[in-house]
Amino acid sequence: MCGIVGAVSEREVQGILLEGLRRLEYRGYDSAGMAVMDGGNVVQRAREVGKVAALADAIGAKVLEGAVGIAHTRWATHGEPSRLNAHPHMSGDKLAIVHNGIIENYQDLRDELKAEGFEFTSQTDTEVVAHLIEKHYREQSNLKDAVKSAIGRLRGAYALAVIHADEPDHLVVCREGSPLVIGVGIGENFIASDQLALLPVTDRFMFLEEGDIADIRRDRVEIHDREGNIVERPVTRFEHGADSADKGEYRHFMLKEIHEQPRVIKATMEGRLTDTSVLEQALGTSAGKLLENVRHVQIIACGTSFHAGMVARYWIEDLAGVPCSVEVASEFRYRKHVIQPDTLFLCISQSGETADTLAALRQAKKAGFRAALAICNVPGSSLVRESDLVIMTQAGPEIGVASTKAFTTQLTALLIFTLALARHNGLSTEAEAEIVEAIHLLPGQVDQVLALDGEIAEMSRAFMDKHHSLFLGRGSQFPVALEGALKLKEISYIHAEAYPAGELKHGPLALVDSEMPVVTVAPNNDLLEKLKSNLEEVRARGGELFVFADKVADVKAQDGIHVMQLPSVHPITAPIVYTVPLQLLSYHVAVLKGTDVDQPRNLAKSVTVE
Ligand code: G6P
Repeated sequence: MCGIVGAVSEREVQGILLEGLRRLEYRGYDSAGMAVMDGGNVVQRAREVGKVAALADAIGAKVLEGAVGIAHTRWATHGEPSRLNAHPHMSGDKLAIVHNGIIENYQDLRDELKAEGFEFTSQTDTEVVAHLIEKHYREQSNLKDAVKSAIGRLRGAYALAVIHADEPDHLVVCREGSPLVIGVGIGENFIASDQLALLPVTDRFMFLEEGDIADIRRDRVEIHDREGNIVERPVTRFEHGADSADKGEYRHFMLKEIHEQPRVIKATMEGRLTDTSVLEQALGTSAGKLLENVRHVQIIACGTSFHAGMVARYWIEDLAGVPCSVEVASEFRYRKHVIQPDTLFLCISQSGETADTLAALRQAKKAGFRAALAICNVPGSSLVRESDLVIMTQAGPEIGVASTKAFTTQLTALLIFTLALARHNGLSTEAEAEIVEAIHLLPGQVDQVLALDGEIAEMSRAFMDKHHSLFLGRGSQFPVALEGALKLKEISYIHAEAYPAGELKHGPLALVDSEMPVVTVAPNNDLLEKLKSNLEEVRARGGELFVFADKVADVKAQDGIHVMQLPSVHPITAPIVYTVPLQLLSYHVAVLKGTDVDQPRNLAKSVTVE
């Protein structure tokens, strides 16, 4: 995921931009660059492949002087990682631009601009935007107007920051589908892909809305909405202190991380979706080729990541019609495999350093799987380095040992991947649009679930003295039940088992009595009626039920049945929403029991040994 930083100041901005890039490193990148104007009618530029440190070394020798500049970390989507493909891109020697996102119609625009005499030096979609803005600038002689005209022709997702040496005292930014925040300083202003990049220079931020264009000057910021009206966007203070590894107002990291989910889910989808479709290129330069002719998917992971893989199996078979197997890495690595032709090997890992997952990957490569895709949260990790294609989750650092936000962002990334795969396997544009629209609703729906925190805390009292519990789900909610049970056992030390509800009468029903709370996730899907019959079976044996149900599911609270109503959600995205109340339930039970929530006994965050 590319990262953007920019500054308009009175002082030299090179140091601010470099520090901003370092702080965006967590997003993952393969090259970095910067362009600065010194008021002297030229734009100076430096670009390097590799780390921000390599860019800093390269600049070190020549020092880019100037008080207005833009910088970028690139995650290759069009064209390999190289100095020529790194941002900023320029049109002539006066206009420079950085871009995070994907321009879908770049090829048509490139042909058109080439025919008009513009020369291209890179394979990127971004260079097209640079020339398109320059073309309009020649007609309009006003950078903001030129940007507005140019973006009217773009299809896709973008956050852009543009400078022009003929207008040396400002920069112009805009966003559509990719994040962009303005940092408000005193006598200077900044822009970046996220707040973390700018914390050394300010703690006051304005968030641009979709379609906004902003003119950023040293002493003022002017924002225009899509219709061209001048609009005010509220200035907010950064909430959780300057350090993301800080608990802020929360009692535990786990609670903080649960509450971060609406934001990080949004960050994981940003730049990868339009309103109605998946931007396949945003998954990487080789995504299209790699997803073609995939006949089978083999998912490997451990712990919570394994549960994400189990949910993904339902999606992959349902939406893409591609057979999918899921296995824990520690089992996979020690057995013989029958490899089906054209199998995509997919590893899921928060840390990217889990020993069993890495061993399975290395073994799969030797065994001749077609290609390896990783879903991972830590850029630069071993898994990321050793995979052919990587989809980074944007959960940010996860400190609590019990994984929460990493799981829901893994699911978000897996659903986006599934849609890209499904498109190669006949999913209609209407069906894709329906699910993409449902994905866009997720941050708001998770927020609604978080608002139930108080009620869930109340509910958790019933678990405090219990020694055993049972979690039930059907279909893609079965892995959600597994994850709910894992959370409860990890942090409260209560024995928790999960079953597909239909298996109840094949064993676990024998355990059900008033001392065994039974937790059930019941979204409104085509298995709801069957699930309700399973609940009757529990109730008839005196079991106490705790049901998280869609408000239209018509599960009535009564003696022995506690019902928590959740927002109505699309059946495909329901596993993401229904995970959240189970996280909160476990958290509150653990707090009541007084366990070490963030560092439960005997467990480690990253299991780097076998
Ligand atoms: C440990 C952690 C879990 C995590 C699992 C897999 O057990 O405590 O939270 O799910 O490892 O880790 P990974 O980093 O590969 O997702």
